[in-house]
Amino acid sequence: EDNGPHQVTFQLMLAVGTAVIGSLQFGYNSGVINAPQKVIESFLNESWTVRYGEEISKTTQTTLWALSVSIFSVGGIFGSFSVGLFVNRFGRRNSMFMANVLAFVSASLMGFSKMGGSWEMLITGRFVVGLYSGLSTGFVPMYVGEVSPTALRGALGTLHQLGIVIGILMAQVFGMESIMGNASLWPFLLSFTFIPALLQCILLPFCPESPRFLLINRKEEDKARSVMKKLRGTTDVTADMQEMKEESRQMMREKKVTIAELFRSQLYRQPILIAIMLQLSQQLSGINAVFYFSTRIFEKAGVAQPVYATIGTGVVNVAFTVVSLFVVERAGRRSLHLLGLLGMAGAAVLIWFIDTSPWKYTTIVAIFAFVAFFEIGPGPIPWFIVAELFSQGPRPSAFAVAGFSNWTANFIVAMTFQYAEELCGPYVFVIFIILLLGFFIFTYFKVPETKGRTFDDISAGFRQSGGPGVEKHSPEELNSLGADSQL
Ligand code: GLC
Repeated sequence: EDNGPHQVTFQLMLAVGTAVIGSLQFGYNSGVINAPQKVIESFLNESWTVRYGEEISKTTQTTLWALSVSIFSVGGIFGSFSVGLFVNRFGRRNSMFMANVLAFVSASLMGFSKMGGSWEMLITGRFVVGLYSGLSTGFVPMYVGEVSPTALRGALGTLHQLGIVIGILMAQVFGMESIMGNASLWPFLLSFTFIPALLQCILLPFCPESPRFLLINRKEEDKARSVMKKLRGTTDVTADMQEMKEESRQMMREKKVTIAELFRSQLYRQPILIAIMLQLSQQLSGINAVFYFSTRIFEKAGVAQPVYATIGTGVVNVAFTVVSLFVVERAGRRSLHLLGLLGMAGAAVLIWFIDTSPWKYTTIVAIFAFVAFFEIGPGPIPWFIVAELFSQGPRPSAFAVAGFSNWTANFIVAMTFQYAEELCGPYVFVIFIILLLGFFIFTYFKVPETKGRTFDDISAGFRQSGGPGVEKHSPEELNSLGADSQL
């Protein structure tokens, strides 16, 4: 469905570019802790010795380290689940603005932990920045989805993932020993998060509030129209206004939708199942087995400079997110997600077999392929598709549920991968292969194409295929709604 001009205006790019600083923070903080493991472990030991007059035991050190790493995802679980508490009360933009308090607090806690000789500060800081990141994974794709014109929603939505992967790459590079991953500079490495937070606080006041929030939640039609004009770079925004009003009318019937209602109502059961499964497909694909443990994987495979191979994964990661950005509006979400899952399964087969390969660099090739296919679909799509699957009423709750699923699965992989690897050796990737194929089948049968369709149109598609007592439509009509691929 055409929705007026699809220009990439300055206002639109400013809004989206500023928002995805939050995504960058998430990526940076999920990647930053891996490289300096050794120096931070010795910090744990030193501060312990100063305080208790004896060396830290190996088990305590391992526990404190594991906690510093994983408490980030625990923060993410809580943060993502709280998204709904903010976005309707304060608006999308102001919620992003306020969340930066958490980034500043965590940067200070982590940055001064060495000076204060306190691992408690480090661990608390990691938790707080996890909260921030969890909120970001809801705020950012929601805001970006709501300001984008229909025809660009996927491409701009992918910028959330691009922010994440650039953040990961920055963390990998800054974390090199010669840069900040050393005994004296690691506090700066961790508190670097302060700078993007500051930048976002400076830029956000120049960004508009989501016009959907203004019109539908606040009933401020004039404001919504003037924001829309700036975003679209045109004075005629009738089509956009019309579409939002239709959504609004729909919402009068739905009102605000709580998390419990999402599951209870027949209307939302299908889209929430899809949202959850896509999030799970992203995390249970095993991608973070690579991002959290790649250096170890390369080391085991006998690669001489594992750190560089790890940075290589970061580069491939960014490159293929850019590829996805350019093809997602043409190829569509469904086909790219399917292609990505299948490609990852193929690459995982390679990784599994490589154990017997005489050429150790095959590991690098296979891991790069795994990452590349991830970014084609399973990386970016699950994040932004949540905004597409729900209209304004259920959207905040849907983001909370989706984010919660994502972060919980993230936490589970982070906690269990190493044990699973010890137990099953290279067969650990067989688990991912099975999961990937399962998600492929689910996507094939259940996920509709959302490319180029308005929010209203997409939820109408679910109403028709889902709820009882809805009007019957001719097959042609259903086809035009994309409903053919839903059941
Ligand atoms: C996605 C995932 C994140 C992962 C990243 C890798 O954003 O949510 O967990 O680390 O992709 O690029």
